[in-house]
Amino acid sequence: AKVLSEYADIIMLRTSSHKNLEEFGKYLNIPIINGLSDQSHPCQVLTDLFSFEEAKGSISGKSVAWLGDGNNNMSNSLIEAAGKFDFKLKIGCPNKYKPNKKIMTWAKKNKANVLVTDNPAEAVKDVDCVMTDKWVSMNDKVNKKAKKKSLKKYQVNKKLMNLAKSSALFMHCLPVGRGEEVTDEVIDGKQSIVWTQALNRVHVQKSIINWCLN
Ligand code: NVA
Repeated sequence: AKVLSEYADIIMLRTSSHKNLEEFGKYLNIPIINGLSDQSHPCQVLTDLFSFEEAKGSISGKSVAWLGDGNNNMSNSLIEAAGKFDFKLKIGCPNKYKPNKKIMTWAKKNKANVLVTDNPAEAVKDVDCVMTDKWVSMNDKVNKKAKKKSLKKYQVNKKLMNLAKSSALFMHCLPVGRGEEVTDEVIDGKQSIVWTQALNRVHVQKSIINWCLN
């Protein structure tokens, strides 16, 4: 960290453990961007909000469904985003994988509009955007088979997608587990904007760097 502070103006760290990020940041004299940790994924979520707004206009007052693991890096950052950007977030997940207490306390304190339900149909009903992610995240030391089994009914397939608004977008941060959290029909379908999201990462990250340096 000390050496890189001499070389660079800013650093992005993508790491499996959030503790690495905090520890590394302690010794830096330059800004650090969280490029991904097991706790949060803010650059991806900012890109997703940008991608939504580019396609549909302001996200304020709109609704987003998150299906699958309610306690991973993406869902944590989405909860924070719901509080800051004023959209309704409906998380459909089994009780075992619901958001952790710390983030829900934050959500309450910050008046984030977040509903957690174990009913996938309730989560996607009439939303403007449906999102999901890999069922087993990096650094997730679980019994993969058991976790995938309990998440099966949260797979984003055509039947669930049809419960959202007909204009709803489908998003995924990639890489994808085809046939697990999402079917080919949905990720390759007309409502999916996953490749645009991937492209937008480049531009949103340039903006984040710009913001930090200014
Ligand atoms: N939530 C995913 C994101 C991968 C870029 C994971 O942590 O594996």
